[in-house]
Amino acid sequence: MPDTKKTVIVYYSLTGNCEAVANELADVHGADKIRLQPNTEPPKNGIGMYAKGGAAALRGARPMLMNSMLDVSGYENVILVAPVWAGKLAPAMGSFVERAMPSGKKVGIVVCSKSGRGDGVISYLREKIEPGSKVVAALNLVEPLSNMEAMKSELKDFGTELF
Ligand SMILES: Cc1cc2nc3c(=O)[nH]c(=O)nc-3n(C[C@H](O)[C@H](O)[C@H](O)COP(=O)(O)O)c2cc1C
Repeated sequence: MPDTKKTVIVYYSLTGNCEAVANELADVHGADKIRLQPNTEPPKNGIGMYAKGGAAALRGARPMLMNSMLDVSGYENVILVAPVWAGKLAPAMGSFVERAMPSGKKVGIVVCSKSGRGDGVISYLREKIEPGSKVVAALNLVEPLSNMEAMKSELKDFGTELF
């Protein structure tokens, strides 16, 4: 029998907010983490960040993922953590859910944005993931790096059945 591991957090982060969420979930609940590494990213600040990243998200870009290990089939549960770009899912996470997300998992979703308007991205992810897998928890966070205490308190009880 192959070993089944419990939970993996798959995240994409350009400026550190989703990374802070992934770190907090892993620290508090215990889980493995994988940071998605797309072959192309916008600059991490300035106008180019919004212009290039926003344009890529709007045209539905799906970059190649450079991670050496992206096989999460050995985990029972998968937690996806991703930012909103131009009202859409950040492209790297789109690549993961379309190409590497196995079915038959229990899934948690955390979306980070500046405005708090992440519900459309959560719905998009649900549509991609279900019915093959079951989304059991979803959370919309505003700039966790600037609201660490609020983020910690929301994540304390997030997706208890996933850990
Ligand atoms: C290219 C780009 C586009 C963005 N578009 C939006 C947006 O449409 N709505 C919003 O609320 N925040 C938007 N943001 C802000 C990010 O969603 C927010 O800062 C998020 O916490 C970033 O996560 P990260 O630090 O892990 O990369 C955008 C950020 C970038 C880089």
